[in-house]
Amino acid sequence: MTVIGCGYLGAVHAAAMATLGHDVVGLDTDESRIALLVQGRTPFYEPGLDELLAESLATGRLRFTTSYAEAAEHGEVHFLCVGTPQRPDSNAADLTAVFAAVGSLAPLLERPCLVVGKSTVPVGTAEVLREQLAATAPAGSDVRLVWNPEFLREGFAVRDTLEPDRLVVGADDPAHAEELAAVYAPILERGTPWLVVDLATAQLVKSAANAFLATKISFINAMAELCEATGADVVALADAIGHDARIGRRFLGAGLGFGGGCLPKDLRGFMARAEELEVPEALAFLSDVDDINLRRRRHAVDVAVELLDGDPAGKHVAVLGAAFKPDSDDIRDSPALDVADALHDLGAHVVVHDPRALDNARRTRPELTYADDPLDAVRGAHVVLHLTEWADYRALDPVELAGLVAVPRALDARNSLDAPRWLAAGWDLRALGRPRLSDQVRA
Ligand code: UDX
Repeated sequence: MTVIGCGYLGAVHAAAMATLGHDVVGLDTDESRIALLVQGRTPFYEPGLDELLAESLATGRLRFTTSYAEAAEHGEVHFLCVGTPQRPDSNAADLTAVFAAVGSLAPLLERPCLVVGKSTVPVGTAEVLREQLAATAPAGSDVRLVWNPEFLREGFAVRDTLEPDRLVVGADDPAHAEELAAVYAPILERGTPWLVVDLATAQLVKSAANAFLATKISFINAMAELCEATGADVVALADAIGHDARIGRRFLGAGLGFGGGCLPKDLRGFMARAEELEVPEALAFLSDVDDINLRRRRHAVDVAVELLDGDPAGKHVAVLGAAFKPDSDDIRDSPALDVADALHDLGAHVVVHDPRALDNARRTRPELTYADDPLDAVRGAHVVLHLTEWADYRALDPVELAGLVAVPRALDARNSLDAPRWLAAGWDLRALGRPRLSDQVRA
């Protein structure tokens, strides 16, 4: 098989398919990315991927190329894993890479084969690609297209690929779905739910899943706003409603909100598609979900300014975390970096630390100052902002930190530090959606 597009999704998928016993060619048009992958090196940080890649390359069943001719010659099954970012000029998804990939591959498909779309696309895209394949592939209607959305999370990509909680396939003909079932046989034999649906439903499942997750996070962040207005505690509230099995505690982590390369752009792309389909009102609520989410970033900036006695100019702000979430070096739409940038714009001297994302952050936000060690970031700080909940930060000793900073004031914007420990070490600790923790303890 081939995997076309070797980003987060494709690189993991290619290596994972090889460990299932398939003979895999991974293709990417980015030569530098392929140059790394052939050496078993990954262009991004993903726990477990280096090991999986090494294991797969060692079997001889995984290789990489930039040649579509080689991919077309090799593949009986072609997975489409290219990116669909947000367009710079609108909320809609940019499908250039998807159409370019199919445009390059189709004229080379001379034998019957299965094309499997995994990229996140607006509903209706697969149907257009199906026509494009039929019209331009020499093998014509012997080129089948199915849609197989991917639900992997960064940080857990290897596990989510090899042990998914479900596999969904959209197909015109159940026989095409059966061909894909054969590819995933070792996973399906473990009893993984296998859902065969139509093409449109398969594309919608992915958009709906991401929209639901984003809504759940924004719901609890809206509750955080109410907690702030009333003195209630959003963490206790989330625990209490989360015990209801119909609600569930997962994804009720209130704080700085969601970012990354998927949830924000998929939410906006979904709304844009609803407008094109002339049902904008169906997803109008997602605009609130987006607004609530972005408000948390502004609110965190306000709290930080308050902790700086209303005057950020010239003050040293230590930022712990740059990645959009822990266990990732991805800084796309990172809430942490947005907060850091906003404080920089207000005249603060912002020093950022992250265990993995510093190189990416340095490249895209050169205006900020960076420290390779969290202790260097906080030395002399007037406020410490905990913006991405890496385990490394929970392991820091608040007593030691209190001895390094100029003023022991901190904001835990992810509600994950051990508050009693920090308070006992003399910190004035604030959190989002929670009463002033220091006041609580003193009371
Ligand atoms: C997401 C989906 O989870 C995944 O199924 C889909 O395939 C791609 O998009 P990912 O972007 O890797 O995956 O991150 P995820 O773990 O979902 O977190 C997204 C964002 O939400 C992060 O910024 C995270 O910090 C934030 N988040 C998550 C919260 O603010 N609160 C929570 O309770 C959970």
